[in-house]
Amino acid sequence: MRTVAALRARVREWRAAGRSVALVPTMGALHAGHLALVAAGFARADRVVASVFVNPKQFGPNEDFSRYPRREAEDAAALAGAGCNLLFAPAPEDVYPAGFATGVHVAGLTADLDGAHRPGHFDGVTTVVSKLLNQAQADFAMFGEKDYQQLLTVRRMAADLDIATQIVGVPTVREADGLALSSRNAYLSADERARAALFPKTLIAARDAVRAGTAVEAALAEAEAALRAAGLVPDYVALRDAETLEPVRSLERPARILSAVRLGSTRLIDNLAVETA
Ligand code: PAJ
Repeated sequence: MRTVAALRARVREWRAAGRSVALVPTMGALHAGHLALVAAGFARADRVVASVFVNPKQFGPNEDFSRYPRREAEDAAALAGAGCNLLFAPAPEDVYPAGFATGVHVAGLTADLDGAHRPGHFDGVTTVVSKLLNQAQADFAMFGEKDYQQLLTVRRMAADLDIATQIVGVPTVREADGLALSSRNAYLSADERARAALFPKTLIAARDAVRAGTAVEAALAEAEAALRAAGLVPDYVALRDAETLEPVRSLERPARILSAVRLGSTRLIDNLAVETA
């Protein structure tokens, strides 16, 4: 389904029949992480809509928009296999027609971490997600913890703009060796893929060190050094408050260790919960 009018008509029918609806926004090249969001949608709602749209506004000029994987037929089959009720795949010219002039900016949460390394990225995300939430009028919208800063930013936006859809976070799905599933993992060479397993392992070691009482700065510096030694170039490794993303130095409140690394021309992100002792 490609048009907002058709999407709205279908959701209206479901609502008229008393069905609740969950939305799963994606950029396609779907993997088991995305399908976990579909499953989590069905745990909350009677009907699940997935959207697939590679959103140009959230890619920087030197990022991977043109090479981002596009696999519509495989995505449709994967969603059908997961029982998804509707695939919404709008055309770029319908999402951003000539004259489109509005942007959504969430201050604070987006200032640092990925926001600092990808200027404009989160504005692109919140602009398209606000449109998708308005278009689908779903009861729930599912977002992965894998993109933790995105999840918090979308939740803030929905609260600030009185969007009635409830934003639901879903735990990260990982490969057997711990690497978080990502559409971008497809860019990795065999050698890079083998080394990428050190990314989550290093974050786990840092989390365990902090939990065991190692000073936060020392644990983060050690993680950065371990990543560099493995050929993973960190953009940041940070310990932050799990709700506000403010820097934390001790574990008085739930915290999150967040990191982004570059491996050749691929950029990977990951994060882990660091609960209070
Ligand atoms: P995309 O990268 O396709 O991810 C779509 C959703 O799947 C996001 O909520 C993301 O956090 C979740 N996801 C990705 N990998 C996951 C994993 N390994 N485990 C659990 N969930 C995972 O994120 C985007 O698209 C876009 O920014 C979008 C929100 C669609 C706006 O354009």
